[in-house]
Amino acid sequence: DAVERGEYRHYMQKEIFEQPRAVADTLEARVGAHGVLPNIFGIDSEALLAATRGVHIIACGTSYHAGLVAKYWIEEFARLPVAVEVASEYRYRETVVPPGTLFLAISQSGETADTLAAMRESRRRGYLGTLVICNSPESSLVREADLKLMTRAGPEIGVASTKAFTTQLAGLALLTLELARRNGLDPQRYAALCEELQRLPRAIENALKLEPAIIELAGDFIHRQHALFLGRGAHYPVALEGSLKLKEISYIHAEAYPAGELKHGPLALVDENMPVVAVAPNGPLLDKLKSNLQEVRARGGRLIVFADGAAGMDDTAGNGVTLRVQSGGSFIAPAVFTVPLQLLAYHVAVLRGTDVDQPRNLAKSVTVE
Ligand code: G6P
Repeated sequence: DAVERGEYRHYMQKEIFEQPRAVADTLEARVGAHGVLPNIFGIDSEALLAATRGVHIIACGTSYHAGLVAKYWIEEFARLPVAVEVASEYRYRETVVPPGTLFLAISQSGETADTLAAMRESRRRGYLGTLVICNSPESSLVREADLKLMTRAGPEIGVASTKAFTTQLAGLALLTLELARRNGLDPQRYAALCEELQRLPRAIENALKLEPAIIELAGDFIHRQHALFLGRGAHYPVALEGSLKLKEISYIHAEAYPAGELKHGPLALVDENMPVVAVAPNGPLLDKLKSNLQEVRARGGRLIVFADGAAGMDDTAGNGVTLRVQSGGSFIAPAVFTVPLQLLAYHVAVLRGTDVDQPRNLAKSVTVE
């Protein structure tokens, strides 16, 4: 056990640090100088992807958050409509499936009971076909899907998912680019995005260097009861994932909001006892996010801001801290900004002395309903 963890104190920490390798492996021989390689979703993928006019994404937990990021990506770059839903809801309701819709399941284990049942149920709902993005080649989901893309994260032991999530994002980025190319994305833009995606392992490596600064921050959370995470656009799901990590392993109540919703409820909770973690990369929504954060500041809330290394976001002088993350580009930024949030949850949990790799009441793979 100690040998496998090597220099790391927990599997979760080891798995966080394995992410540059895991993401590089997942992209390996799938995207290159000429773009996404043919048939990476399987030899039968050509006809199916050519006919795809929309995507329904089904997953649970962290994998669901990966699906939410993909909605922002696919709608922006491939201009195809995407719906994302947790499997336990999807399987029991009457859904509408427009012609040409692809069913996409995302799962680390490939054995999550609800996700598997949802995919089986999808067979009678009239989809074009099923695609699974999964980390377990021998799993039931992979066996049953028409098309598959394996993430190559290797075994993930920590119950709180880390490298599975970022490799899912890598896989979903490949799918986004493939669909975008087929649906008229400008070739130059396509080439630039492919190039950006290949920089993801390096960008994650840089983000990992924030660990010492995050350890310092973590002390601030030890006696907190609650935390609020904010993000906008594709970083709203990143905020959701950050809050899920914190609650899973530190047992601090955390929730995430799209920052624009702040005034519609959560602002009522903000005072000096409420740390507010903001994911604030540069982009068209940064100014809007800044004014959301101003609302928090005005109420004495302590801000922890993860901002772009290229500046843009002011430092939160006096009322919190700003950590700089080199995003590597706005397409890959959600995967990069996830990393400091994982480290934050991890170090808060370590300080609180919880069982980081085996949080109470949770299981790695939920194989019963
Ligand atoms: C459990 C795990 C989570 C995981 C979720 C979905 O809740 O604790 O880490 O995200 O199941 O699992 P899957 O294997 O389908 O991705």
